[in-house]
Amino acid sequence: MNPRVLAIESSCDETAAAVVEQRAAGPYVLSSVVRTQVEVHAKFGGVVPELASRHHLGSVSAVVSKALEDAELEASSLDAIVVTEGPGLIGALLVGIQVGRGMATALDKPLIGVHHLEGHLLSTSLGDATTAPSTFGPRLALVVSGGHTELVDVQGLGAYTILGATRDDAVGEAYDKVAKLLGLGYPGGPVIDRLAREGNPEAHAFPRAMIDKPNLEFSFSGLKTAVLVHVDRHGQPSSRQELCDVCASFQAAVVDVLVSKTRRAVTQTGARSVHIVGGVAANSGLRAAMDAQAKTQGFELRCSALRYCGDNAAMIGAAGLARLTGPAQVTVHANRPLDDPYLRLDTGA
Ligand code: KG4
Ligand code: ZN
Repeated sequence: MNPRVLAIESSCDETAAAVVEQRAAGPYVLSSVVRTQVEVHAKFGGVVPELASRHHLGSVSAVVSKALEDAELEASSLDAIVVTEGPGLIGALLVGIQVGRGMATALDKPLIGVHHLEGHLLSTSLGDATTAPSTFGPRLALVVSGGHTELVDVQGLGAYTILGATRDDAVGEAYDKVAKLLGLGYPGGPVIDRLAREGNPEAHAFPRAMIDKPNLEFSFSGLKTAVLVHVDRHGQPSSRQELCDVCASFQAAVVDVLVSKTRRAVTQTGARSVHIVGGVAANSGLRAAMDAQAKTQGFELRCSALRYCGDNAAMIGAAGLARLTGPAQVTVHANRPLDDPYLRLDTGA
């Protein structure tokens, strides 16, 4: 029988559960349920940790039951329970972890903790009714989410070298802050992405920080400030076209930097495969520009399927399956990095 796990994700503002099965070709999603809290946090312009914990508590049982029901499985047939152990909001993480721990104890199955970003790394392997699963191999990963922006040299499971990361804001955070200052609500990424498609990306010359530096680091807080200064000077965009132009110019600056640093990382590492994961991997401008870059530079490009870019439990289940034979442990943490020694399989701890 193929191993199957139930996974729970509650690190930020999505309560998610999924049932994932290990097949020879890769992890296969039997069910994936995501209940978002965006409308709870929208009026505050960002995630309020205490509210997130409370809403996870209110949703988690129903979300887990729905995942089991959709997979048409009894909990007793699972091989393990997998939870996100960090990074994330501690109160929010603990909701998923405690529910998982309760289930694992009742079912007498192992409880496996997964690093949230390792989950994102596994998201490009997921198969389901519309996509074939794949195995987890070496690649260069661009992790772009609300909390992280980094280029990671992935040698294998648990073997990660962070080649460069943001010095300040994460790219998703920059989208959310710019959307807030333009009065576009939360989360900012999807709406700016949509408006950018109708705008002129050359209307405003926003800064491309660190683009000429020979390193693989990022900085997005200056770009956010540049949009703020623009609005201070010229007032809020007075027409839809002006708003679209600001969004398109902001997005062009973000995408230029991400593509340029990825190009540099591919040259440095000789990577033949690049995977883009995390909430911002859903961005249409980034996907199109990376596609063009892949053709020019000759690397294989894989972006997570849109349904697995944002936070979900299917990716956590895939990472749990990959670690099924390792030590069953949960290391709760707010912000341990992907290259933290505890993730390495060779250390066993
Ligand atoms: O991976 P994710 O769901 O959560 C974290 O682990 O942070 O990423 C959420 C982030 C938010 O900042 C959101 O604005 C951004 O992903 N995002 C996008 C798009 N869709 C979501 N950013 C740019 N373009 C999008 N289409
Ligand atoms: Zn995430």
